Amino acid sequence: DKAKMIVDKDFRIADIDERIYGSFIEHLGRAVYGGIYEPDHPSANENGFRMDVIELVKQLNVPIVRYPGGNMVSAYNWEDGVGPKEERPRRLELAWRTIENNHVGTNEFAQWTKEANSEVMMAVNLGTRGIDAARNLLEYCNHPEGTYYSDLRIKHGYREPHKIKTWCLGNEMDGPWQIGHKTADEYGRLAVETAKAMRLVDPSIELVSCGSSGIQMPTFPEWEAKTLDHTYEYVDFVSLHQYYGNQDNDSANYLAKTMDMDHFIKTVISTCDYIQAKKRSKKKIHLSFDEWNVWYHSKDHDTKLDPWTIAPPQLEDHYNFEDALLVGSMLITLLKHADRVKMACMAQLVNVIAPIMAEQGGSWKQTIFYPYMHASAFGRGVSLQPVVSSPLHDTKDYTDVPYLDSAVVYNEEKEEVTIFALNRHLSESLPLTADVRSFADYSLVEHMVLENDDLKAVNSLNEEKVKPHGNGSAELKDGIIEAQLSKASWNVIRLA
Ligand code: AHR
Repeated sequence: DKAKMIVDKDFRIADIDERIYGSFIEHLGRAVYGGIYEPDHPSANENGFRMDVIELVKQLNVPIVRYPGGNMVSAYNWEDGVGPKEERPRRLELAWRTIENNHVGTNEFAQWTKEANSEVMMAVNLGTRGIDAARNLLEYCNHPEGTYYSDLRIKHGYREPHKIKTWCLGNEMDGPWQIGHKTADEYGRLAVETAKAMRLVDPSIELVSCGSSGIQMPTFPEWEAKTLDHTYEYVDFVSLHQYYGNQDNDSANYLAKTMDMDHFIKTVISTCDYIQAKKRSKKKIHLSFDEWNVWYHSKDHDTKLDPWTIAPPQLEDHYNFEDALLVGSMLITLLKHADRVKMACMAQLVNVIAPIMAEQGGSWKQTIFYPYMHASAFGRGVSLQPVVSSPLHDTKDYTDVPYLDSAVVYNEEKEEVTIFALNRHLSESLPLTADVRSFADYSLVEHMVLENDDLKAVNSLNEEKVKPHGNGSAELKDGIIEAQLSKASWNVIRLA
């Protein structure tokens, strides 16, 4: 069986918002301490930031990083993290049951994102706190000068405002595990009143209303409908979070889980549009898929950790090759919805369920680093809608799963086209014919492949077993690409 694809430059889904290649740093485990910040490490710069880590973040070209949580933000006092370091309190961090010494806070993180060529997506605490703490933090960050909180920032050594544009109204407030968990109406009321006050402080900001913590939540999608009923006219985005794992060791079923992610996105879009219709509004809400990744390898280990230590190794998933394939498919799913998904954050960035690991001996790339890097590098421009036909299969939980999962991106400025293609077949290669005649004078630049005979192969500081090669089989002749996509492989076929 063959897969076929017709690609035409006029079949457009939408311009891709580069912020879909965002990521996430939470005060959790070794993400901050021992991750981005480690003043005693040989690679640290004068601000205590690990330059080896920044170097890898730059390779990923991450446009925006969500901060400071996550579950952690729902009991966080932002004031603890600003001002002279020696005066900052040590606190019990209740979400992950560690000690937070607050050596890194808002200003340091804003500085770090500058050095990493990125931007901050700031989350406010709507768990234990509310309107007041949120509007004060915004004034501290964005107001130029001449008021209590803006002058406090200046006193703390940051003359220029941070100009943070994107703000999340809390985190996973639908989750019973969340500190200050709320019902949809409780959250909706608090979120809209917080949004109103924040917009008075700085009308230029964009706001994200909390959606569901996953498609499996019993309150989904009623949560979206009820909360947006309150927040609709005051926010720009609704969030989605989703993590997958191969707990059952059923790889075919695992690689089909993006069918579920696709369904999740479609349902959230429908729910937003239902509220739009109900309100007779002209406004469309966009989606911020601001936590997504594979997360399951570390769960057992983490239940055994002692509480109240500083920066223990939590959520340190060691990703294997099949995880990289699923991550590629998740990126493809985001690209297919480029018209509505305008932000997304791989959760997270360093050490904690992360593409980048930082150890004493150096930093290194997990398997999932590569599809993320490819999509971020070559997935900018217009998301095209290819007409695709692929052989199908059934798995334990999904029917009619196409072996070929694909997205196509056209970068008009650079005159480049990139086909991202996953072959989900675990034992056979998939022949692909792609008609690209609308790109008449283009030639094939490269066909990169991430493949491995062992679905469970992992990388480490000393050995990179899973990394892409450039020897894919694609050939372009008279506007037709012919390629063999190896069994279980991630492919990046580039034309220019
Ligand atoms: O990213 C890890 C955790 O997953 C976050 O803190 C929380 O928002 C989600 O449940």
